[in-house]
Amino acid sequence: MQKIAIIGAGRVGESTAQFLATKDAAHEIVLIDIKEGQAEGAALDIQETAPLFEFDSRVSGSTESETMQDADLVIVTAGIPRKPGMSRSDVLETNIKILDGIIDDVLKHAPDAMLLLVSNPVDVLTWRAWTRTGWPRERVFGQAGVLDSSRMAAFIALETGYSTQDIQTMVLGGHGDSMVPMIRYTTISGIGVENFLSTEKIEDIITRTRNGGAEVLALRQSSSAYDAPAAAVAEMVDAIVHDRKRILPSVAILQGEYGHDQAAMGVPCVLGKNGMENIIELNLNEDERAQFERSLSGVKKDIDRL
Ligand code: LAC
Repeated sequence: MQKIAIIGAGRVGESTAQFLATKDAAHEIVLIDIKEGQAEGAALDIQETAPLFEFDSRVSGSTESETMQDADLVIVTAGIPRKPGMSRSDVLETNIKILDGIIDDVLKHAPDAMLLLVSNPVDVLTWRAWTRTGWPRERVFGQAGVLDSSRMAAFIALETGYSTQDIQTMVLGGHGDSMVPMIRYTTISGIGVENFLSTEKIEDIITRTRNGGAEVLALRQSSSAYDAPAAAVAEMVDAIVHDRKRILPSVAILQGEYGHDQAAMGVPCVLGKNGMENIIELNLNEDERAQFERSLSGVKKDIDRL
C-alpha cells in the first residue's frame, strides 16, 4: 500500500500509526490532527523508532486535511472519548459532527480511498460514513469485533493458562454492552471452550468482555483503552494490505444479511485488498439470534437519532 492517513492523533491514532509503521504497512503514513503540533510530534516520535523496529514507512504529521491527498486507506480515530460512567452512545452527537467534517475532507482529497472507522459509537459512525460518502460498502467498514474478540481470548488465556495462539473467539453485534460473544465458536485448539471452563466461568468472561472498554477506562480514568484498539486496527489493515482474505469480525453495512438492512454492525467479514469483501452469514441458534437482535436494535436506535 502506498499511503495510509490516520485522522486523529490522540492515543488510538498514535498507537495505530506506531503499529502500522512497525508492520511496514504502507510507504507513507500520515497522521492528521486539528491540534497544532500534536500529529507532527507523534509522527516524529514514531519515525525515530524506525531504526529500532527496522521499518521504512515514512511517518509524518500535519493539521492540514489535504495531506491525506490520494490516500489508499483513511482510518478515523478522531472524536471525543467517553468519560467514566458514560456509554459509547453518549458521545454520538459530538462525534457525528466531527465525522461529517472528516468525510467531506475525504471526499475532496481521497475520493478513491477505503474508510476504516474506529471512533465511537463505531457502528453508527460507520453507517453515517457509508451514507454520507455514497461509496460501495466494501470501502466503508469499522473496527470493533477484532478488539472484543482479542479481549475475550486474553481473558480465556488468563483463566486457563493456555497459549493465546490456540484460542479462537468471535464477538459479533454492536460494540456496546449488548455485544454477542459466540461461545459456540470459541475454542482452544479447536476444542470447545466448555471443555475447559465451567458455565459460570464462561459467563464471567462474557461479562468481562462486554465491559472490556469500561474496565480499562475505570482504571485509567483519564483515558479509554488505546493499545488493544490500535492493535486490532493494525490486524485488519494487515489483512487488507496483504490481501489475506482473513475472516475477521468487522462492522459492516448489512444489505439483507442476517435478515437486516439499514444498519451497520459487527459480523464476520472477509478482509482483503478490496476492503470488506464479503459477509459470512452464520446460522444463529435461538439464543444467539435473540442476542443479535437485541444488539442490533440498540444500534438502530442510535441510527434513528441521526
Ligand atoms: C473500547 C473503546 C475504545 O472498547 O470502544 O476500549
